[in-house]
Amino acid sequence: MVVVAVVGALLIGLAIPLAVVLAVIVVAAAFGTLEMYKRRRAGSAASDAESGVPEKGVATRVVLTTYALLTIATLGLIQVVPYGRDHSNPPITAEPEWSSPRTRELMVNACFACHSNEVEWPWYSNIAPMSWAITDHVDAGRSKVNYSEFATSAEEADETLQEVLDGSMPPGYFTSFGLHPEANLSTAEIDELVAGLRATPGLSETE
Ligand code: HEC
Repeated sequence: MVVVAVVGALLIGLAIPLAVVLAVIVVAAAFGTLEMYKRRRAGSAASDAESGVPEKGVATRVVLTTYALLTIATLGLIQVVPYGRDHSNPPITAEPEWSSPRTRELMVNACFACHSNEVEWPWYSNIAPMSWAITDHVDAGRSKVNYSEFATSAEEADETLQEVLDGSMPPGYFTSFGLHPEANLSTAEIDELVAGLRATPGLSETE
């Protein structure tokens, strides 16, 4: 269960400790429920020599059902957490002086989902824990560089070219499994973007 949670967290870019906490809650609740179930069985079948040790087939089914129900219950409960519901897009104050509309287009496709005030919140951004992960990416991304508030939020903007050259942005989880294909730039598009960024003031350290 914990392993599943960690793998899931890596896939959606959710904080791993958070996923582990959720998994531990499910495991602990399931353990408690199953102990109660065993005790109740032991009580009701006191005369039976096999008491407290449910038949193996039944036991597996009960265990799986318990885990499934508690996972669903936990997923249901976490929906009430208010974090992750703020899907605002503050006003656009200033963008870089893009060297061409094409440069902007490539940046919009690959980067604006987290580094702009034109975030298109997908439907699953309303469902925890995806909502938490996505809000966290947008908050963290905007705080590093926000191409919609270029005048005031540009401390890391000169890293833009380097991030693209390194291939470290957009983050791997964003484009894995065919997600956001428009952000998964081809080699030709990356070359185009690199040239465009070199010609745009403030987006590379070398200009
Ligand atoms: C899925 C959200 C997401 C997308 C899409 C994305 N970024 Fe980021 N970006 C982040 C987050 C989160 C951080 C801060 C944490 C980090 O550095 O990993 C960040 C950090 C950065 C930084 C600061 C780097 C540093 O070392 O501090 C730059 C520059 C950047 N991104 C540029 C880009 C560019 C350029 C693109 C498009 C090619 C892009 N990002 C796409 C989420 C995103």
